[in-house]
Amino acid sequence: MSATASTQYTAHFRVWRGDQDGGQLEDFSVEVHEGEVVLDIIHRLQATQVSDLAVRWNCKAGKCGSCSAEINGRPRLLCMTRMSIFTREETITVTPLRAFPVVRDLVTDVSFNYTKAREVPSFVPPPGVAAGEYRMQQMDVDRSQEFRKCIECFLCQDTCHVVRDHEENKEAFAGPRFLMRVAELDMHPLDAAAETGLDRKKTAQDEHGLGYCNITKCCTEVCPEGIKITDNALIPLKERAVDRKYDPLVWLGSKIGRRGGGGQD
Ligand code: SF4
Ligand code: SF4
Ligand code: FES
Repeated sequence: MSATASTQYTAHFRVWRGDQDGGQLEDFSVEVHEGEVVLDIIHRLQATQVSDLAVRWNCKAGKCGSCSAEINGRPRLLCMTRMSIFTREETITVTPLRAFPVVRDLVTDVSFNYTKAREVPSFVPPPGVAAGEYRMQQMDVDRSQEFRKCIECFLCQDTCHVVRDHEENKEAFAGPRFLMRVAELDMHPLDAAAETGLDRKKTAQDEHGLGYCNITKCCTEVCPEGIKITDNALIPLKERAVDRKYDPLVWLGSKIGRRGGGGQD
């Protein structure tokens, strides 16, 4: 009896409610049980007070990337944020992802990310190597594996200051998740993009907005998979893009290409 009393309490939640036409924060007092996460509390709100509260979720295990929102202004997964990280007295504010248009309540339209995903040309299989015969060093496998832990929650995209409050930058900037994809492919030892005339370092700069990134590492800080987006993807991609620009052979090649009516560097 006393154990139950000490593990249950009433929390104060402030939840954004509205749609694309506008909305407001609404206050709720809601019961919390030991071991619960913020998504449990949102579900209890739905069950007991606001049955039409919209929230997107699927796995409740930090793997589907659906339950992204902002808690006290920080991009987080609702299902992986334990109530125990907050004091019992504090007000917990839950709002939709700020960088994307609201659909309703805590649900946002993240289709910007799908557009950016489609803009990254996919892996180009090496010619003359049959499927199942691909071989690469373990360190190259490990590098790709880190990037492939991505659950596409888009918290990194939401927090990046380049687009967070700058809708006007969205067209030119792919965001950390998709620059990481470009980096993965550019560093992939079997990717044969160059043989088809696709220079991923150049497109990183010219088409995916690599130059907008000033390596603040905010994306890395919010990634629930702990991917070192900035250190392991964005900085190496920047270094490779600079190398390409100042590589005397690349420079010479581009000059010859220009004289011959080829493309611009
Ligand atoms: S490191 Fe670059 S991509 Fe990541 S949040 Fe900062 S500016 Fe955005
Ligand atoms: S890189 Fe991390 S934060 Fe970004 S979408 Fe993938 S899992 Fe989410
Ligand atoms: S519900 Fe799947 S990551 Fe939260």
